[in-house]
Amino acid sequence: MSHDYQEFIAQVKVLTGIDLNLYKEAQMKRRLTSLYEKKGFGSFREFLLGIKADKQLLNEFLDRMTINVSEFYRNGKRWEVLEEKILPRLLQANKSIKVWSAACSTGEEPYTIAMVLSKFLPLSQIKILATDIDDNVLARAKMGVYHDRSLNEVPSSIKAKYFVKQGDYFKVVDQVKNTVTFRKHNLLADPFESGYDLIVCRNVLIYFTEEAKDQLYKKFSQALKPDGVFFVGSTEQIFNPAQFGLETEDTFFYKRLVKAHC
Ligand SMILES: C[S@@+](CC[C@H](N)C(=O)[O-])C[C@H]1O[C@@H](n2cnc3c(N)ncnc32)[C@H](O)[C@@H]1O
Repeated sequence: MSHDYQEFIAQVKVLTGIDLNLYKEAQMKRRLTSLYEKKGFGSFREFLLGIKADKQLLNEFLDRMTINVSEFYRNGKRWEVLEEKILPRLLQANKSIKVWSAACSTGEEPYTIAMVLSKFLPLSQIKILATDIDDNVLARAKMGVYHDRSLNEVPSSIKAKYFVKQGDYFKVVDQVKNTVTFRKHNLLADPFESGYDLIVCRNVLIYFTEEAKDQLYKKFSQALKPDGVFFVGSTEQIFNPAQFGLETEDTFFYKRLVKAHC
């Protein structure tokens, strides 16, 4: 790793608490280099001085390093498995379930969870914790207003029931919004709560190094109740789940083993 980038990483950690060492290097460097060049800087050293002096630029940097793309019912087939196989089992054991949407971006994912869960429970009994490292996306998530294109995969009955059209935008109804609590949380630095029946963490682990991912699999596994489920993104298969105390329940769904040895 170049000295320039190493020094940048060290200073960013002091400035923001974010450890860029835990993100895949080539990908992160490429994204940040294209941003600083666009802003007229010649090196990570110059860019660092820039983000120290300019809060707006610091925000743009944070925005670039976190990729925020999301949509409702992303990879629709997986949500069918959640509804038809995973939730019926989880709800057989418990009347209510503890749910965490980790790295929730602008809120499409936790609101989707609420909409799917509403087929089994009244909305007033659903509570979902949704977290992300990025304040900007959390603010947008709390507003719950989305462009048409984020709703492509939403079944029409759900769209009619849980969204209100406002011009070109769709607003999630308050009863669904009230099921979700949004909170800032850095997966790579902050402690995890435990006792979850379902943890959904999709399309963020791909940005982390293998070592960071392995640490996180362990922490997610320990945050689950025995038989609780960890739902990952559709490119994020875990190759040897047993080493983290998990077993495959369906593609991209992992169940915590009752006797976990990790
Ligand atoms: C591509 S989005 C995924 C959104 C949603 N889970 C989905 O699959 O549609 C990735 C999210 O991960 C968040 N993120 C990146 N690093 C993070 C970290 N260390 N801790 C928590 N969230 C992080 C980003 O801010 C971004 O909102």
